[in-house]
Amino acid sequence: MDHVPHRGTPRFRSRARLLGPAGAAIAVAVATLAAATTANAGTTLGSAAAEKGRYFGAAVPAFKLSDSQFTGILDREFNAITPENEMKWDATEPSQNQFRYTSGDQIVSHAQAHGMKVRGHTLLWHAQQPAWVQNLSGSTLRSAMMNHVTQVATHYKGQIYAWDVVNEAFADGGSGARRDSNLQRTGNDWIEAAFRTARAADPAAKLCYNDYNTDGINAKSTGVYNMVRDFKTRGVPIDCVGFQSHLGTTLPSDYQTNLQRFADLGVDVQITELDITQGSNQANMYAAVTKACLAVTRCTGITTWGVRDNDSWRSGDNPLLFDSNGNKKPAYTAVLNALNTGGTTTPPPSTTPPPTTTPPPSGSGCTANLTVQSWPGGFVTNVHVTAGSTAVNGWTVRITLPAGTVITGTWSAQPSGTNGTVDFRNVDYNGQIGAGGSTDFGFQGTGVGPSGTPSCTAG
Ligand code: G3I
Repeated sequence: MDHVPHRGTPRFRSRARLLGPAGAAIAVAVATLAAATTANAGTTLGSAAAEKGRYFGAAVPAFKLSDSQFTGILDREFNAITPENEMKWDATEPSQNQFRYTSGDQIVSHAQAHGMKVRGHTLLWHAQQPAWVQNLSGSTLRSAMMNHVTQVATHYKGQIYAWDVVNEAFADGGSGARRDSNLQRTGNDWIEAAFRTARAADPAAKLCYNDYNTDGINAKSTGVYNMVRDFKTRGVPIDCVGFQSHLGTTLPSDYQTNLQRFADLGVDVQITELDITQGSNQANMYAAVTKACLAVTRCTGITTWGVRDNDSWRSGDNPLLFDSNGNKKPAYTAVLNALNTGGTTTPPPSTTPPPTTTPPPSGSGCTANLTVQSWPGGFVTNVHVTAGSTAVNGWTVRITLPAGTVITGTWSAQPSGTNGTVDFRNVDYNGQIGAGGSTDFGFQGTGVGPSGTPSCTAG
């Protein structure tokens, strides 16, 4: 906007003198119009993202804060920072109960001095654990885990925009199951225990689950989806899901749909570690990821995993927005243009949209309806159960599955079988529904998902 002459400036006054009173009025109008049209066009990644109500961040290792070319770009272009390694367990608690925050604090100070958000990364992860943790197991390890979460989240209390409370806890491949790790072997509830502990330590931070290879709809992302869904149903405090988006040469065609299905669960989504192999498609893919985030109201920001290509953990792929000399790449321009043109303006407040598919209850008993998300060979179904004009105490939903379809997982209900006609019975905590109230359960499977309106029986 600095090319627009303002009313009081010598440039404006001399222009007005030359044009006379009518010309002055025109000059005001032109200046105002120019200001209005440029107001929405950011000239840096951070300002352009901010115009859309988002942040644009980068992963930063503390030792690069003394590299002036690096900080020149960082401070000009980005308005969020993720410490690349400095808040991980091996960095913050190298010996049990001896905490070391020097490098993490350095990054937080830099961020605060430049008005940047900080994404905390990461409280619990199977990798980069100090040796003493690797030697623990069972309840001793569980206590050490929760102590670590409490201590680190308390140290940074009030200074973190969002914490990756748990990183990469799901297995690759088609199982959709948790990854085996020493953390997982302390009991399947370790993730929810970590989220509850983090919330108690820093109630203001958004609490995220973060993972890779979850960028399209696949077995792994569906496993995460089911966990988040279950957490939301049971009141486990989760606020956001991070999609790392370490990408190769193609973007999953359902990238935006995948972000949206998580957002529809009532959590924010964030692109947390974006980098994309350089090749003919790099700029287009960067633009597509940016547009996808802008198109999903609850996508609150994008972080690239580094600044220049030579800063990257996968520097051989030249996967970032600035080359190794600090020059803007075509991918940079593609992102900036996408931020300035794509998506909606400032997103509305983060609220869960009211369900639109449920007909108003009539009569007693209950009704149920389905939402099905399918991909070749698999599906996820959400079932919305609504009580009629009187409260129900227990319910059963009967769904007939297409031939060949097999249920591989169910949450918030107890199924009578895995194929054919299946009765889904409420579980302990969701059997009672007040008059006109509702609850949800879901299941996933292989084959073709169900269709039609299932029957619901109260009692
Ligand atoms: O600091 C030590 C140094 O003292 C030692 O001499 C040297 C010898 O190997 O290692 C140094 O630590 C390295 C550390 O980065 C700091 O540079 C580790 O070996 C190295 O493994 C570590 O790599 C990091 C990696 O996570 C570890 O898992 C990368 O920088 C970091 O970019 C990467 O980030 C991860 C995210 O946290 C999670 N998602 C995937 C992403 C990419 O792998």
